[in-house]
Amino acid sequence: MDTILITGGAGFIGIHTSLVLLNKGYKLVIIDSLINSSYIAINRIKSTYKKTNKYPNNISFYKGDIRDISFLRKVFKDSIKLGSEINYVIHFAGLKSVSDSFLEEDKYWDVNVNGTKTLIKVMEENNCFNLIFSSSATLYSEYETSPLRENAKVNVNNPYGKTKLEVEKFLENKIKSSHPNWKIISLRYFNPIGAHSSGLFGENPNNKINNLFPLICRSITNANEELLIFGNDWPTHDGTGVRDYIHVMDLAEGHVSAVEFLNKKIIKSSFLVINLGTGKGTSVLELINIFQKVNKININYKFAERRKGDKAIIFADIRKALELLNWQPKRSIEEMCHDGWEWFLNNPFGYEK
Ligand code: NAD
Ligand code: UD1
Repeated sequence: MDTILITGGAGFIGIHTSLVLLNKGYKLVIIDSLINSSYIAINRIKSTYKKTNKYPNNISFYKGDIRDISFLRKVFKDSIKLGSEINYVIHFAGLKSVSDSFLEEDKYWDVNVNGTKTLIKVMEENNCFNLIFSSSATLYSEYETSPLRENAKVNVNNPYGKTKLEVEKFLENKIKSSHPNWKIISLRYFNPIGAHSSGLFGENPNNKINNLFPLICRSITNANEELLIFGNDWPTHDGTGVRDYIHVMDLAEGHVSAVEFLNKKIIKSSFLVINLGTGKGTSVLELINIFQKVNKININYKFAERRKGDKAIIFADIRKALELLNWQPKRSIEEMCHDGWEWFLNNPFGYEK
């Protein structure tokens, strides 16, 4: 079976994707600096996986930074020594907060852009030309109308988004100007929420959360954190913002489909951009109502001003993912609310209790 390097594999999307890949029998080399995650996630995946007694040696972990070229070279060299040369890379590692990116623009550029370039260099040195990259729906221009197809115009207004756009351009150029074997898929995620149904894996909350779902959870457990709904005058059916929430396990399975797609011998050198969402929009009020119903819990909220940079409606057109990857999401918004809350209840402070 192929060996896959997962950068940022201890993080929210990385750990769920690792679980799915391990269950499929892939060998994984996970690297992570643990700047926004915990070794406990790695321990949990190891022990969950051991219980199945399937391929016990299929997972190894290295703590380190993708900007450190000698670290990356060692990881690739070790894999060769162990007889499981890395054939694919799924590149999750990066910094992801839109608001922080305004405060730490240089750092975001260094990690997300320079870190990716270092990774690509080491992949080339090791003749590894298969890459799946974590991109974002934040790239789509605010003037484009949903459902968003991959050929919609891009235009970013935040430093985080600029790093993703720069990496996409860099990767597209690789195909044109570099080794003919490069096969790259850039997956543009919409709004991943939820958690693994075991309640053992989920999003490690940091202090400065800006996203709606973890803020809903926190408003329940922390009486000081009232939930604010940013705007009730948007041009939507109930006046609140509409987004494309996707269960993180569906997103994880999308990566497996992407690996399987790259594995097909008929695929030639290519750079593909593919949306991963559900293709359905849910408003803030709808999400809150479903959350309350599914989890039998009351959420206090109040309406506030619109948030700067927000848009009324964002959801994906996912026909390309279905056509090329033969992937489509299976889990409902009810499951997202149930699983996400279960994780939060069991781990209110994330992995580190
Ligand atoms: P996350 O923060 O949970 O995971 C990212 C992981 O990368 C973390 O474990 C972190 O410790 C690690 N990391 C950060 N800098 C590193 C470095 N220099 N070297 C090695 N490891 C490093 O985030 P996530 O939600 O799992 O997102 C994964 C990827 O998907 C990111 O690239 C993010 O930009 C992208 N993305 C996320 C979302 C979302 O809503 N979660 C949406 C669109 C795109
Ligand atoms: C945000 C980022 C986007 C990033 C995405 C995934 C901004 C402007 N956009 O998008 O670039 O790709 O996260 O990480 O930061 N909401 C509230 N109250 C809250 C929080 C959010 O009403 O306290 C609303 C928002 O107005 C929006 C919806 O909930 O309508 C979802 O917000 P959020 O979870 O932040 O995701 P995005 O806005 O899609």
